[in-house]
Parts: sequence; structure tokens; C-alpha cells
Amino acid sequence: MVAMRRMQAAGIDAFGGQVQMLELAAPRSPAPDEVVIAVHAAGVGNWDEIVRLGNWDVGRQPPLALGVEAAGVIDAVGEQVTTLARGDEVLTHPLPLRQQGAWAEWLVAPAALVARKPAAVPWETAAAFPVPALTADQALTEVAPAPAGKWLLVHGAGGVTGGLAVQLAVAREATVVATAGPTSSERVRGYGASLVFDYHDPDWPARVRDASPGGRGIAAAVNAARGDAATALRAVERRDGREHLRPSRRRTLGRARRGTRRRTALAPRRGDSPTRGGRGRAQARRRRWRRGRNRPGTRTKPVA
Ligand SMILES: NC(=O)c1ccc[n+]([C@@H]2O[C@H](COP(=O)([O-])OP(=O)(O)OC[C@H]3O[C@@H](n4cnc5c(N)ncnc54)[C@H](OP(=O)(O)O)[C@@H]3O)[C@@H](O)[C@H]2O)c1
Repeated sequence: MVAMRRMQAAGIDAFGGQVQMLELAAPRSPAPDEVVIAVHAAGVGNWDEIVRLGNWDVGRQPPLALGVEAAGVIDAVGEQVTTLARGDEVLTHPLPLRQQGAWAEWLVAPAALVARKPAAVPWETAAAFPVPALTADQALTEVAPAPAGKWLLVHGAGGVTGGLAVQLAVAREATVVATAGPTSSERVRGYGASLVFDYHDPDWPARVRDASPGGRGIAAAVNAARGDAATALRAVERRDGREHLRPSRRRTLGRARRGTRRRTALAPRRGDSPTRGGRGRAQARRRRWRRGRNRPGTRTKPVA
């Protein structure tokens, strides 16, 4: 049982309203499958702005503490929870929200969506980990459900999502080719990437293809470079046997590419979330894509 009846939070009293300090009801006793977490740190991302504007349904209405990821210490456990105990250090991305968001003193989460925090990981790092990690896992799983032994490109591996995608792919026994800037390339090699190309070199997609088995191109790609999916696609193996075209020719020959199928997951667009709501929007966009709508003139825009 949580003793306090009120808690401090940062959030909104109406969708579209400014973020402000709120005093909200503290969590009730947890339901049988829930835990109450005393929040030590909470993640902040552009998706919180999407929630603020009411464009991502996280399961609750204002007055609402924002924040969808956090790390903290278990304060109370429901009667069916056997895997966690009071005092455990944990992290979570608990959507849909059971009570309030993560920018609050306490957070209610289903125990099934709570993981233990390794002791060596700082609170802030643990709190900012779940959403990028889920995004990387979803993108990787979509393009390469069975990556072992395959070559995979991660474009934008210097960023948090791309870096996690590299590490997941390496852990799943893929051979990873990555792009990164000069200041990040050593770090990306440290994640286990076999080859790292500087994305400032405009010919990097051709260099990646040349380095791939038989020079055919990479089997699949995760794009974590904002707005640069079309560039990443130039490094991906085509399944129709055609050659890759320069961007200027691609536009004029777009019609000939109908039916081309390649596997690339793109970083979600603004308005997408990496969780269910955003995935739903991305899937709807893919359906529209297949029906021929939303196609901005080339055949290089695949899934999002
Ligand atoms: N983070 C998330 O949880 C999340 C969730 C949903 C969607 N997304 C989407 O995923 C994408 C990446 O987000 P992020 O948060 O991982 O970004 P981030 O951590 O801010 O990554 C930025 C890094 O991207 C690299 N970069 C910049 N321009 C590049 C280019 N033209 N080609 C290749 N790499 C480039 C730079 O790395 P160097 O240091 O190597 O120069 C830069 O440090 C965005 O489109 C974002 O909207 C992210």
C-alpha cells in the first residue's frame, strides 16, 4: 500500500496545454498483476510532444503526467506478482498506462512490462533505454526476422536507435555493415559492426554493395538516419535482378520499378510511435502504399 494520497507530476491538464507541475492522486494499491514503482528517472523524447498534443493515445486522459518510460525502485507489488519484490531496481515502458505517465513520483506498471535494472547502469541511462530499444528491436525484427548468417545494413548507427540496432543484430549473429560519422565510427565498431562507412561519402551505398557477398547488395537494412531511407535502399539487394539507379534516373524510371520488393525498415515519421499506436499508423501507411496512394513519384519508398 502506498501511504501518500497525492503526488507531484509534470504533465498537462488538457491535450495541447503547456507542460506544468500537477498534483495528482498517488497510485492506489496495485492490482494483482501490477507493481508500483518509485520513479528515480524518466525518459524524455519527441514522442512526449505527440502525447501532449493528443496525437498518441497512451490510454489515459488529462489531467495526465507525461512520460512513457522510467527507471526506479519497486514500492509495492500485486498479489499475483512473483517475479519482482519491493526494493528491486527496475525499468519499464508500461503502455497502455494503467494510471499516470512516468514524469511523476510513482508509476503503476503491469509486472509483465517491467525488467530489472542491472546495478551498473545509471538511473538516467536505464530510464532512457526502453523506447529506443523497442524501436530498434521492432525495426530489426521486421526486416530480418531470422538474421543469423545474413548481412544487414544499419544506416545511422552513430545514433541511439541505430547503435542499439547494431548491437541487437550482432547478438542475433548477423554480419552488420553500418554507417556512422568520423566521431562515432570507432564506437560503432565496438558494438560489433564488421564494416563502418562514413555517411558523408556520397558513394557509400555503392561501397556497401561492393563489399557485400557477390557485390549484390545487402539483404536488409534498418534506417535510423532521419529522412534518409531512400539512400539506404541503394545499398540493398534488389530481388528483381535490376541494377540500382542513380536518383535522377530513378525518378524517370519509377514506373518500371513497380513490383520491386526490398526489405528495409525506416525510422518512423513524426507522429509515429514505436509502440502500438505508431505501429498501427505505419501499417496503415503501408496499406495505402500498396494500394498506390502516398507514393511521391518514385518506387524507392518502402515500409515506414
Ligand atoms: N530514439 C527513439 O526512441 C526513436 C523512436 C522512434 C523513432 N525514432 C527515429 O529514429 C531516427 C533516429 O533517432 P535517434 O533518436 O536514434 O537519433 P539520434 O540518437 O539523435 O541520432 C543522431 C545521429 O544520427 C547520425 N546521423 C545524422 N545524420 C546522418 C546521416 N545523414 N546519415 C547517417 N547518420 C546520420 C549522427 O551520427 P554520427 O555521430 O555518426 O555522425 C547523429 O549523431 C529518427 O528518425 C527518429 O525519429 C527514434
